[in-house]
Amino acid sequence: MLQVANVTKKFNSAGSDVTAVSDISFSVETGDFASIIGKSGSGKSTLLSLLGGLDQPSNGSIEIDGKDIARLGDHALIDYRCKRIGFVFQNYNLIPNLSALENVMLPMEFAGTSKRSRRVRASELLNQVGITDEKQSRKPGRLSGGEQQRVSIARALANNPSLILADEPTGNLDTHASANVRQILHDLTRQLGTTVIAVTHDVTFANAADRRIGIVDGQIDPEWQM
Ligand SMILES: Nc1ncnc2c1ncn2[C@@H]1O[C@H](COP(=O)(O)OP(=O)(O)O)[C@@H](O)[C@H]1O
Ligand SMILES: [Mg+2]
Repeated sequence: MLQVANVTKKFNSAGSDVTAVSDISFSVETGDFASIIGKSGSGKSTLLSLLGGLDQPSNGSIEIDGKDIARLGDHALIDYRCKRIGFVFQNYNLIPNLSALENVMLPMEFAGTSKRSRRVRASELLNQVGITDEKQSRKPGRLSGGEQQRVSIARALANNPSLILADEPTGNLDTHASANVRQILHDLTRQLGTTVIAVTHDVTFANAADRRIGIVDGQIDPEWQM
C-alpha cells in the first residue's frame, strides 16, 4: 500500500517560488495499476520523482508499506531506489553501448546478484516481454522504439521491485507499439503482483488502469478521479 499525504513540492527558480505539486493526497493498493493523467506542466513528473525518492517533498509524507520515504537517510534511500522501485521513462534511457541483455543485467549488478543469475534472469525477463534471444544481443540502436521500451520494462523488473513508476511510457510510440507496451506492462505486473503508477496523456492507457488520478495545476483533479 502506497499512501501519499498532503505532499507539496516547491522549486525556487530565478528567485521566485514555483509550486509544482500542491497538497496532494491519494493511496494506491498493493498490486494495483494506477494512472496519473494531466496536461503538460501539471506536476506529474515532479510527483513521480518524489514517489521514487529521486527528490524530496517540501511538505507531506509518502508511506510505502508504512515507511515514510521522505524521511529516509541517503543510504536507505539509495537502497530503496535500487531494490524496491523500477523506473520506466518516455525515452527508454537504455545505455547505448550495452546490449539489451546487458542493460537488463545492470541493475542486478548494483543489487549484488551473481553474474550467472543475472544473465539467466535477464534473459527470462526479456523473453517475457517478447524480446527474442537474437534481439537480446543487439544494442538499443538496432531495436525499434517499442522493443526498446519492452527492454526497459524488463530492466525495471530486474530486481523484483514492489513498485514500478513509469513516466509517459508510450509517449514516443505509434498506436500499435503503444498498445503492445501497455498490454505487456499491464499483464506482466499483474502476474508478478507489482504495483504500477504510470503517468500518461493517453486516455486509452488511463482507462485501462484500476485507478485513475487526475492532476491539474499541481493538485488532484476531481473530474478525472476513478
Ligand atoms: N527543477 C525544477 N525547477 C523549477 N521548476 C520546476 C522544476 N521541475 C519542474 N518545475 C516546474 O514545475 C511544474 C510541473 O512540472 P512537471 O512536473 O515536469 O510537469 P509535467 O510532468 O506534468 O509536465 C512546471 O511549471 C515546471 O516548470
Ligand atoms: Mg512530465
